[in-house]
Amino acid sequence: MSEKIRVLISEEDVQKRIEALGEQISKDYEGKTVHIIGILKGGAYMMIDLSKRINVPVTLDFMSVSSYGNGTVSKGIVKIVKDLDEPLEGKDVLIVEDIIDTGRTLHHLKELLYARKPASIRLCTLLDKPDRRVVDDVNVDYCGFRIPDEFVVGCGLDYAQKYRNLPYIGVVELNED
Ligand code: IMP
Ligand code: MG
Repeated sequence: MSEKIRVLISEEDVQKRIEALGEQISKDYEGKTVHIIGILKGGAYMMIDLSKRINVPVTLDFMSVSSYGNGTVSKGIVKIVKDLDEPLEGKDVLIVEDIIDTGRTLHHLKELLYARKPASIRLCTLLDKPDRRVVDDVNVDYCGFRIPDEFVVGCGLDYAQKYRNLPYIGVVELNED
């Protein structure tokens, strides 16, 4: 078996879209400081690219989470693998993810972070797969691209920990050879 990657969204299109999101975010946060939380590992790529396109003050922090439970367990809880370094009280938080799939991770993460009393929380994701959503109260404020239900890699997204570093979004194709 060999793997081939089919390009779904080019590097140029990804970067153009991130630039547009950065402009929008800069307008929406005028006069404020955006406290960006990157969700490791994949969200770190989007976070770094996006932060370079924002022209209001930015501070950064990272968090790593893993989801418990499976498709049939609606109360799948998020386990914090690496917590934030800084408190959130009074901050305007922007969570940055690589992809929202079922929405479970972000649903639980938002609840957990709201308990730390930030001034606001918004969510930005490079990719959204709306067809896969099982938790429907995950409000995506900023979305790069809505994509069909295909397994994608690149721009932070992995397949068995590989391909995060691809500068474009691709679909993994398995070939028998
Ligand atoms: P969910 O929204 O709680 O289902 O979790 C989303 C997480 O699943 C993402 O942060 C990714 O780690 C992973 N994921 C979902 N779809 C894909 C994909 O197409 N490629 C790579 N990882 C994915
Ligand atoms: Mg992830």
